[in-house]
Amino acid sequence: MIITIDGPAGAGKSSAAKALAQQLGFRFLDTGAMYRSVALAALRSGLSWDDTTGLAELAKTLQIDLDGDRTLLNGEDVSQAIRTAEVTDAVRYVADNPQIRQTLVELQQNTALESDFVTEGRDQGTIAFPRAECKIFLTASPAERAKRRQIEHHRRGEDLSFETVLERQNARDQRDKQRTIGRLVPAADAFEVSTDGLSPQEVVERLKVIVSQCRS
Ligand code: DC
Repeated sequence: MIITIDGPAGAGKSSAAKALAQQLGFRFLDTGAMYRSVALAALRSGLSWDDTTGLAELAKTLQIDLDGDRTLLNGEDVSQAIRTAEVTDAVRYVADNPQIRQTLVELQQNTALESDFVTEGRDQGTIAFPRAECKIFLTASPAERAKRRQIEHHRRGEDLSFETVLERQNARDQRDKQRTIGRLVPAADAFEVSTDGLSPQEVVERLKVIVSQCRS
């Protein structure tokens, strides 16, 4: 069984998808970590962001392994390195590249052959797994999402003002929604859930009710 969870940055997808997978005995696929890993490799390579073909070639050579919470890039644990503001800023060049999207969607589809999965991203219910048994679109208000992201940055020692986080988030939302391929849009058959005012546990409980509806 595949359960897809799509939605904008900061809606609480990662923690909800992880907890849901754990409670159902499924594996969890954080597809944003794949895009971030390619962005990190691109930053390290020194390739120009204009070199879309070179970036796509680089993406094909990378070994990206997601192992629970850990992300391995060519065997190196980059779980922390892919969460910096620098990578978050750069990831758009990777996510906007249709060839890289194709490479990563294939990687996602091949990974999901192995087991039951909760997959999380922007295009999981629309592009990567259009025939998934259960699709969820998770949202939250821009202010609540920015507040959560600001706290995450703070925990990593990056102090950014709320206004800065909100501004960057709005810019990313726009790009995510306008991307030609794999844009952020709910699948026609997705259940939409707003996480505003809900605790992480309440979100998971809501998702479990949806999953049982999908199964019946
Ligand atoms: O969920 P996240 O913030 O870790 O995702 C990082 C970036 O990758 C985000 O800007 C959008 C992009 N992304 C995407 O385009 N498609 C996905 N399936 C997952 C993430």
